[in-house]
Amino acid sequence: MVTLSASPFRLLSYLVVLLLLPLLSFASNPDPLQDFYVANMNAPPLLNGFPCKPTSKVTSDDFFFDGFMKEGNTANTFGVNLTTGDVLSFIGLNTLGISMNRVDFTRGGINPPHFHPRASETGVVMKGKPLVGFVTIGNMFYSKVLTAGQMFVIPQRLVHFRKNVGDGKALAFTTFNSHMPGAIVLLFALFASTPPIPNDVLTQHSK
Ligand SMILES: *[C@@H]1O[C@H](CO)[C@@H](O)[C@H](O)[C@H]1NC(C)=O
Repeated sequence: MVTLSASPFRLLSYLVVLLLLPLLSFASNPDPLQDFYVANMNAPPLLNGFPCKPTSKVTSDDFFFDGFMKEGNTANTFGVNLTTGDVLSFIGLNTLGISMNRVDFTRGGINPPHFHPRASETGVVMKGKPLVGFVTIGNMFYSKVLTAGQMFVIPQRLVHFRKNVGDGKALAFTTFNSHMPGAIVLLFALFASTPPIPNDVLTQHSK
């Protein structure tokens, strides 16, 4: 008798849990349960994130990062230098669900098509004229040439690129709703994997 009369309530609680589940899976990084959780990079990673330093060992420097002060060297194939300010370089970000990159472009430099498996991205152009574009799951291409002060957004997991189409250098700062957004660069994933994807897989066309 007791279980029977309890069952409508139980059904209702299942329903509430079911309705709340999508909210959990939409969150990029889980919300932290404490003020901070400065990463201890010498300890092995935990199930989801890095273990924390004991609070007695936390210092002011853990919450400041000077990696963006200098221009990155763009003398490489792509003419772009990405300085990542994610949890791997800035341990104060651990579990906070945010991070930033500095992106330096030489003239004509390109940040080739890639996506971030764990984050949406926003960015602001500080200098130069980058063409910023992304492609939706439905293969719609959205793009714009930006100048200093303009901001952009790249929805989570969509393929995007940036190319400096201006006459000089370009500089942008990007932000992510993950402490470690990760990046899958399509060129590398398809043509530089270890071991390589078989050629016939990459070259097969319809008969
Ligand atoms: C980016 O710039 C830094 C600092 O100049 C340099 O150490 C690094 O090798 C550069 N990375 C690439 C891919 O060129």
